[in-house]
Amino acid sequence: MPSLSRSFLLVAPLVSLSLAAPFYGRVIGRDANISTSYDYVIVGGGVSGLVVANRLSEDSAVTVLVVEAGELDAGEDFIAIPGISSGLGQNAVGTKYDWNVSYSAQSELNNRSVQMPIGKVVGGGSILNRMLMDRGSKADYDRWAELGNVGWDFAGLLPYFIKSETFTPPAADFAAEWGIEHDASVHGTSGYVNSSYPPFVYPSTKNYFESMKSLGINVPKDAANGEALGAFWSTLALNPGVSTRCSARVAYHDTVETRSNLHLLTGNQVTKLVTDSTSGSVTATGIEYASDASSAIKSVTANKEVILAAGSLHTPQVLQLSGIGSASFLSSLGISSVIDLPGVGENHQDHQYVAIANTINTTEVSFNALSANATLAAEALAVYKANGTGPYSTSGSISLAFLPLGNYSNATSTITSSAGAQGASTYLANDTDATVAAGYKAQYDILVRDMDSFNIANMEFIYSDGTVVLALQHPLSRGSVKIASTDPFATPIYDSRWLSNPADLAQIVEAFKFGRKITTTSAFTSLSPVEAFPGSAVTTDAQIETYIRENLATLFHPACSAAMMPKEMGGVVDSNLLVYGTSNLRIVDASIFPMLPATHIMSTVYAVAEKAADIIRGAATC
Ligand SMILES: Cc1cc2nc3c(=O)[nH]c(=O)nc-3n(C[C@H](O)[C@H](O)[C@H](O)COP(=O)(O)OP(=O)(O)OC[C@H]3O[C@@H](n4cnc5c(N)ncnc54)[C@H](O)[C@@H]3O)c2cc1C
Ligand SMILES: *[C@@H]1O[C@H](CO)[C@@H](O)[C@H](O)[C@H]1NC(C)=O
Ligand SMILES: *[C@@H]1O[C@H](CO)[C@@H](O)[C@H](O)[C@H]1NC(C)=O
Ligand SMILES: *[C@@H]1O[C@H](CO)[C@@H](O)[C@H](O)[C@H]1NC(C)=O
Ligand SMILES: *[C@@H]1O[C@H](CO)[C@@H](O)[C@H](O)[C@H]1NC(C)=O
Ligand SMILES: *[C@@H]1O[C@H](CO)[C@@H](O)[C@H](O)[C@H]1NC(C)=O
Ligand SMILES: *[C@@H]1O[C@H](CO)[C@@H](O)[C@H](O)[C@H]1NC(C)=O
Ligand SMILES: *[C@@H]1O[C@H](CO)[C@@H](O)[C@H](O)[C@H]1NC(C)=O
Ligand SMILES: *[C@@H]1O[C@H](CO)[C@@H](O)[C@H](O)[C@H]1NC(C)=O
Ligand SMILES: *[C@@H]1O[C@H](CO)[C@@H](O)[C@H](O)[C@H]1NC(C)=O
Ligand SMILES: *[C@@H]1O[C@H](CO)[C@@H](O)[C@H](O)[C@H]1NC(C)=O
Repeated sequence: MPSLSRSFLLVAPLVSLSLAAPFYGRVIGRDANISTSYDYVIVGGGVSGLVVANRLSEDSAVTVLVVEAGELDAGEDFIAIPGISSGLGQNAVGTKYDWNVSYSAQSELNNRSVQMPIGKVVGGGSILNRMLMDRGSKADYDRWAELGNVGWDFAGLLPYFIKSETFTPPAADFAAEWGIEHDASVHGTSGYVNSSYPPFVYPSTKNYFESMKSLGINVPKDAANGEALGAFWSTLALNPGVSTRCSARVAYHDTVETRSNLHLLTGNQVTKLVTDSTSGSVTATGIEYASDASSAIKSVTANKEVILAAGSLHTPQVLQLSGIGSASFLSSLGISSVIDLPGVGENHQDHQYVAIANTINTTEVSFNALSANATLAAEALAVYKANGTGPYSTSGSISLAFLPLGNYSNATSTITSSAGAQGASTYLANDTDATVAAGYKAQYDILVRDMDSFNIANMEFIYSDGTVVLALQHPLSRGSVKIASTDPFATPIYDSRWLSNPADLAQIVEAFKFGRKITTTSAFTSLSPVEAFPGSAVTTDAQIETYIRENLATLFHPACSAAMMPKEMGGVVDSNLLVYGTSNLRIVDASIFPMLPATHIMSTVYAVAEKAADIIRGAATC
C-alpha cells in the first residue's frame, strides 16, 4: 500500500518519548499483597472491567479485585498524544500493549489472515484506540430489546451514555466555522470520560461535507441523540484544553485508585474460573491465574460474584477453558462440561473496512504533508506541546457518515431481495448448533427487514484528508472464537468468516462506488483529487470485489461472541448479564452485544458497563 492510505491504517515507525511516570496507588504490580478473597473478582481491566470495578468499589463495604493480563502504560507520547497515536508517528498497535493476534486465514479473502489489534494493558482498547466517542442510532439498540432483552433498547441505554461522559461543547467560533451543533439533553456533565471536540480539523473536511450534502446526505443536529444517520461530527475521548487521551485507565481507574477496597493485579492472566456445581445452579467461587505459561497457577476466591470483562476475543476463551460452552466441542479437547452452552464463542461479529486513497492538491495543512515533511511535523508538535492545539490534538478524522443502503446505492431492492431469498441457515458454518441457528434466524429476519430502512445505517464512510474509508456495519456473516487447546496461554482460533455471506460483499461493492463518488463531486474538484489507491486499474465490479477480498481489514470492533439473548436462541447471558446456568457469573464487555450497532463501539461499551454495574449493585442488595 502507498503511504497515503496509511493515514488510516495503524502502521508507522516507533517514536518513544515519555511523560512523567504515573502514581500506582493500590495497584498490586505483582501479587505480593493480594488478599485470599474479594467480594467481586473482575477478569480483565479494559474498558468495561474498569467501569464496573470503579462503580462497585464506591461502596466501601465491598472489596473488588481486577485481574489484568497487561501492565499499566507509562504515559508514552504514542498513547497520550492523539496525533501520534493515530498516524503521525508510532501507535500502540504491535507493541507490548497489543495481544498481537490475527483472524485465521479466510478462503473468501483469498486465504488472507487479517491482523486484529486488541489491548493488553490496563484500559484495554481505550489505550490503543482512535478515541472516537460516537453512538449508534436508536434502531441499532432497539434491536437488542427486540431480540428478547427487556430494558436494553436506546431509551434503556441513554441514561448510561449520559452517565459515563463529561461532554464539553466546542468553542463558539469553532462550532460556527464547522457547523457543529449539539443537543445538551443527551449529554452528560459529570461522567468520568471527557468527551470533547479536538480544536483542529483538517481543512479539506469542508469539501467532504459539501460533497456529502450535494449527494443528498443529511447532516443531523447531534448524532448522539439516536439519529446517527448522515454526515456528522464525532467527539473524541479527549481531555479538553490539553488535548490528551482520556482512556478508561485515566478516567475510571486513576481517579479512584486510592480506594483501599479496590485492588488491581496487573501482568496476570486468568486461566480458569473455579466453579461449584454441587447445588442445582453453578456457582463461580473464584478464579485461577498465572503471570505466564511457566509460572505457578494461583487462585483467589470470590465471595459474591465473578465478572468477565476480558473482551470479545477472550471472554469466550476463559469460559471454554472452564468447561462452559458447547459440551461436544469441549469434549473433543478433553474438557469436561460444567455447563453445556453452545452459544459461547458463536455469533462473532466485527466491522470491516477498505479504503480509497486520493492525493489532494492543497496549500493548507494536510495529513500527507505532515507525514512527508519532518520539519513541518516538528513545528506542529511544538504547537501542540505549547497549547494543546493543531494537527497533533486530533486522532485524525472526526467527520463520519453513517448511511442507510438506500442513501448510497440504487441496488437496494436487488440486494435486499437476494438476501431475503437466501434462507437463514444457508451461509452459517455447517456445524452450527440448532439454538445458535435459531438466534441467527431472528437476527437475519431483522437485518433483511431493515435493509431498505432509512432509520438504520449499514455502512460507515470516514473521511480523512483525501482518504475515504468505508466500513460494513451490519454484517450478515457470523464468525466464532474457539480455543485450540487446553493451554490457557495458547491463542484461540479467531474465525471471522468475513464475506461468508455474499450479501456482505454486495453491500461493500456498492459502498466502494459511492466512496469514489464523494471525491468526484464539484465540491471536491478544487482539490484536484487523484485516486492513488486502488487507482484506475480497478473499475469493474469483479475488480472491485477482488480489491475488497485482498484488502478487507478490521475496524477494531470485535463483539457479540457471548451474546445476551434467550438461551434457546443461542444466548450466553440473560438480560441481567448472568451466564445461563449460573447464579453469580456475569459478563459485562462487548461480547454481550447481540448485534453490532452502526458506530464505533467504545461509548456503547461504557454505557453497557455502567448499566451492568447498576444491575450488579441491585442484585447485591437483594
Ligand atoms: C486499534 C483500535 C482502535 C479502536 N478505535 C476505536 C475508536 O476510535 N472508537 C471506538 O469507539 N472504539 C474503538 N476501538 C474499540 C474499543 O476500544 C473496544 O471496543 C473496547 O475497548 C472494548 O472494551 P471491552 O471492555 O469489551 O474489552 P477491552 O477494552 O479489550 O478489555 C479487555 C481486557 O481484558 C484483558 N484480558 C483478556 N483476557 C484476559 C485474561 N484471561 N485475564 C486477565 N485479563 C484479560 C485484556 O488484556 C484487556 O485489557 C478500537 C480498538 C482498537 C484495538
Ligand atoms: C504490601 O503491603 C505492605 C503493608 O501495607 C506495604 O508496606 C508493601 O509496600 C506492600 N507491598 C507491595 C508489593 O505492594
Ligand atoms: C506479532 O506477531 C507477529 C506474527 O505472529 C510477529 O512477527 C511479531 O514479532 C509479533 N510482535 C510482537 C510485538 O510480539
Ligand atoms: C486457498 O487455500 C486453498 C486450500 O489450501 C487452496 O485450494 C486455494 O487455491 C487457495 N486460494 C487462493 C486464492 O489462494
Ligand atoms: C436518505 O434518503 C431519504 C430519502 O431520500 C431521505 O429522507 C433521508 O434524509 C436520507 N438519509 C440520509 C442519512 O441522508
Ligand atoms: C477531563 O478534562 C479536564 C480538563 O482537561 C481535566 O482537568 C480532567 O482531569 C479530565 N478528566 C479525566 C478523567 O482525565
Ligand atoms: C495545484 O494547485 C496549484 C495552485 O492552485 C496549481 O497551480 C497547480 O497546477 C495544481 N496542481 C495540480 C496537479 O493540480
Ligand atoms: C517542509 O516544511 C517546512 C516548514 O514548514 C518548509 O519550510 C519546507 O519548505 C517544507 N519542505 C518541503 C519539501 O515541502
Ligand atoms: C500558543 O498560544 C499563544 C497564545 O495564542 C501564542 O502566542 C503562542 O505563539 C502559541 N505557541 C505556539 C508554540 O504556537
Ligand atoms: C441512483 O441513480 C441516479 C441516476 O443515475 C443517480 O442520480 C443517484 O445519485 C443514484 N442514487 C444513489 C443513492 O446512488
Ligand atoms: C463443513 O465445512 C467444512 C469447511 O467448509 C468442510 O470441510 C466440511 O466437509 C463440511 N462438513 C459437512 C458435514 O458438510
